[in-house]
Amino acid sequence: ADLRALNTLGLPAKAHHLARPATLDALRQLLAERDLSQPVFVIGEGSNLVIDGDLPGLTLSLAIDGMVKVKEDDSHVWVAAGAGVHWDDLVAWTVAQGWQGLENLSLIPGTTGAAPFQNIGAYGVELSQVLEQVTVMEIASGKVLHFSAAECEFAYRDSRFKSRDRGRYIITGIELRLNRQPRCNIDYAPLQAFFAQRPGEAVTPAAVREQVIAIRSSKLPDPTVLANAGSFFKNPVVPASLAASLQQRHEKLVSYPQPEGVKLAAGWLIEQAGWKGRRLGPVGMHSEQALVLVNHGGATCDDVTALAEAVCRDVKARFGVELEQEPVRMPGPTPNR
Ligand code: EPU
Repeated sequence: ADLRALNTLGLPAKAHHLARPATLDALRQLLAERDLSQPVFVIGEGSNLVIDGDLPGLTLSLAIDGMVKVKEDDSHVWVAAGAGVHWDDLVAWTVAQGWQGLENLSLIPGTTGAAPFQNIGAYGVELSQVLEQVTVMEIASGKVLHFSAAECEFAYRDSRFKSRDRGRYIITGIELRLNRQPRCNIDYAPLQAFFAQRPGEAVTPAAVREQVIAIRSSKLPDPTVLANAGSFFKNPVVPASLAASLQQRHEKLVSYPQPEGVKLAAGWLIEQAGWKGRRLGPVGMHSEQALVLVNHGGATCDDVTALAEAVCRDVKARFGVELEQEPVRMPGPTPNR
């Protein structure tokens, strides 16, 4: 099967065997019948993926759907959704009910099942803050297990599913705990500024969603129009001493203090290194957001790797900071980790 439509960077690749199970039983059956000497890959909508060649073995893209309220109390509702649900459909549905929690994560491309894999985050909120539990199927046994948010070992763009348990489980669904009272998070400076300028405007999940969509659309390229996989690098967390010395030399350095160091805006570093809007062959760094690597058409994985290496090299030479690739590389391991 051709995977070009299953990776938003639009890289050419094929899957030896692609299946789209719609139920847990169908998934278990596929796993039971597979060739045990071959790998198993899971792709949602491929929006955080760099496909590096054809995929051997079994490739699964889950079609398990369904969004349902499972329980509520005076202050919260618990919502379950299948791994195959398009993420923004889940956000739109919960926001339409007036439930608070997902509005900052509006318009993130991809599926619900992919969301916990790398703990999606945007505009001041991470999935881990609203996640109650993740349901998975263990590939080796076909057993269904549940992990609480704490057990998922969430970190910035990371979880046990992306790190130590990579390739062990398939995420089949998630459960979220949302607020019935609107207590929106507008800490992200442009959101705060928007509502500060409009004192009459109530800070509701729907209003925040609308603004997040406006901000996202103005900076981030729509992958259906210009192929990309979102942020191509993580924002690096560096020791406070390095951040302080960089700050002395670069007054405008964008940084956010963290418990474990100082997080730097990789987009700023890349822009300063001269890569914003610059191309190398058929790929380039986006003109509105230098952190997003875009495929202008016809790119191969080698083109992507060459650009990523050039950007890393220049940022390292200029700032002494190592960038780490954010999207997952398949089938191989992610380089520079
Ligand atoms: N900046 C520049 N030049 C650029 C891009 C950014 O100077 O070309 C500066 C901005 O001026 C801003 C700062 O960098 O002060 C941060 O930029 P922005 O708010 O756009 O966010 P980001 O740190 O570049 C992260 C996430 C995004 C998420 C946004 C909003 C990562 C790797 N990326 O980007 O997530 O949407 O924050 O919260 O953490 C993704 O993961 O794929 C993704 C798009």
